[in-house]
Amino acid sequence: MWWLKEVAVIDPSQTISSPCDVLIKDGKVLDIASSLTEVDVSAKAQGEAVETIEGKGKFLFPGLIDVHTHLREPGQEEKEDILSGSRAAVRGGFTTILAMANTQPVIDKRALIEFVRLQGERAGYAHVLPIGTVTKGMQGSELVEMADMKEGGAAAFSDDGKNIQNAEVMRLALEYAKLTGLPIISHCEDKDLAGDGLMRRGLASGRMGLRGIPGSAESVIVGRDLILAEETRGKLHLAHISTAESVDLIRKAKARGVDVTAEVNPHHLIFCDEDIKLNDTVLKVNPPLGSKEDREALIEGLKDGTIDMIATDHAPHTQAEKTRPFAEAPFGIASLETALSAVWQHLVVPGRLSLDRVVEAWSVSPAKRFGLNGGTLKPGAPADMVLFDPDYKEVIKPANLVSKARNTPFLGKSFQGLPVMVWVEGRLVQKDRMVL
Ligand code: DOR
Ligand code: ZN
Repeated sequence: MWWLKEVAVIDPSQTISSPCDVLIKDGKVLDIASSLTEVDVSAKAQGEAVETIEGKGKFLFPGLIDVHTHLREPGQEEKEDILSGSRAAVRGGFTTILAMANTQPVIDKRALIEFVRLQGERAGYAHVLPIGTVTKGMQGSELVEMADMKEGGAAAFSDDGKNIQNAEVMRLALEYAKLTGLPIISHCEDKDLAGDGLMRRGLASGRMGLRGIPGSAESVIVGRDLILAEETRGKLHLAHISTAESVDLIRKAKARGVDVTAEVNPHHLIFCDEDIKLNDTVLKVNPPLGSKEDREALIEGLKDGTIDMIATDHAPHTQAEKTRPFAEAPFGIASLETALSAVWQHLVVPGRLSLDRVVEAWSVSPAKRFGLNGGTLKPGAPADMVLFDPDYKEVIKPANLVSKARNTPFLGKSFQGLPVMVWVEGRLVQKDRMVL
């Protein structure tokens, strides 16, 4: 049994944001109280040994749930695999991750869903929930067997990495997914408008002479999908929203009652197109980083609830790939191990976003939208949780990363404020930044 004393509990699911004593037993939260005595605790322990943690000055919150990670297994294990990715997750404060389906082969049938789920269980770190593709072979034309895949453990459907260009296919997907109750996650990117662009079209792309991707490549598909979700009454989740125009469209659709949720990635909240350097592909990401105005609109959207969630879009690639010339390097940032601390440092510490909102957006609302067991420290809930120390300092070094990937913009940067203990179902899986 664990007894965390005087820890600042942040649990928006129960509107708790105050120092508490927390008891964990049999993998579950047993009790949260303003203070407990030795007598209370030994009565509840019923003979079991009690490990005590002095929580003063630290935060405890439900484990983060990341609805957008690329774990690359099967097929591209040189970039990442389910074991390394789920270890990186718990190092970063995530206790549940949803694995994207654009692997090789793509996850378009039940046997593959079961494979990913079992690999996650074998790894034994974060809960790994597979996302299935929407279309067979991710070819954008024929729908997968959604009900069968749900039975195998699919948490959602997405052709992420690729847009579903055919509007009728998208309409049918939203219609059929209703039978499963699972959301369709849309990677909104009009193929023709995006062309072979390398970064967001604007002053910065012009100055660097790099081919641009207009913001409209995203927002025209956001608009299309919102209209289709409204018409079908389907359940839509919009991945990695990156433009002010998209935020505006989502805000209006929500006001009309469309069943839509949206996510934003930490890098779109922290960086903008002006941060990109021609000789460094680390910020080459899809959707591309927008303007400063886009970034402000995303922060505002996250604050007012237009954007429901934060998600990493952890996209690991090898150094050999990321050190190619800008035009040839793949899109993506690996972020599971740094995302929470980066958001803390760049948004919470300067007062742009509250820690309560971060926990709500990265744990409570993903659990709610995807129907997951988690996102709360209510008594009886699984003890998936994070102890966060706002004073802990660390320089991000390649040697310390447990992900196989090194494509993070934070290498060499010093962070203050890190997750220092992580439990999955009451089992300690990370302590003092070491994965156990
Ligand atoms: O930057 C990205 N990388 N965006 C995506 O949509 C796909 C992802 C990947 O799979 O590498
Ligand atoms: Zn995507």
